[in-house]
Amino acid sequence: MRLDKFLCDMGLGTRSEIKNGIRKGMALVDGKVCKRPETQVSEEQQVSYQGKPVSYTAFEYYMLHKPAGVVSATEDSRDRTVLDLIQEKKRKDLFPVGRLDKDTEGLLLITNDGPLAHRLLSPKKHVDKVYEALVKGQVTEEHAERFQQGIDIGDERLTLPAKLTILPEDLSRAPAEVLHALEEIQKGTSVTRIRLTLREGRFHQVKRMMEAVGCPVVYLKRLSMGPLLLDPKLKPGEYRPLTQEELQWLKEL
Ligand code: URA
Repeated sequence: MRLDKFLCDMGLGTRSEIKNGIRKGMALVDGKVCKRPETQVSEEQQVSYQGKPVSYTAFEYYMLHKPAGVVSATEDSRDRTVLDLIQEKKRKDLFPVGRLDKDTEGLLLITNDGPLAHRLLSPKKHVDKVYEALVKGQVTEEHAERFQQGIDIGDERLTLPAKLTILPEDLSRAPAEVLHALEEIQKGTSVTRIRLTLREGRFHQVKRMMEAVGCPVVYLKRLSMGPLLLDPKLKPGEYRPLTQEELQWLKEL
């Protein structure tokens, strides 16, 4: 690739700033000053800019535990975005794979690998997404059977079969963030903890499904997406690069 693209991809400036810098002799390729922005360089060559070595990263993959209050976008004029949370990123073309609502927490993959994101999100692939939620009202096995059949949430088609599991009522062992959500519920309102596995990703799908059976969501967290499980060591707002093994699982999808 061109030397100016190499440096621009690594976030060292705009294309025109970098072109100027290169022409002024700020770039070295394999130890020699290179003043031509169009010079072809490969990822294996040693490149430095403004006195610092620059290694090329074609793709980056981060697992983020999205906290509530940030939006799943690359930029936003009002709110902080999930990308603002990723401090050490090299690439400027990262994006979140799919969206979680502003008030939803949990697993979000951040990458610049378009084909991989497409495979994870493609409706044809039916990649399982597992959510844990706290909902108002009493969820029963009858609801679970209805979800298994598919329900009407106002779209053209019924939802695909979804697996609903009712979790133990003992909220004393619920994660702190679940208990925090509970504060919003008036005393005396019954709540149920559930786990829901979806094979599709329609807009606000969990909230709309629970609303359709009269049990609105008060807290929602995504636990997994296909083979990728939210690392329990990550607190809301924390992230880490994917491991080689996790990446391999995703590539095999
Ligand atoms: N379903 C929802 O309703 N919201 C999310 O953020 C994700 C799934």
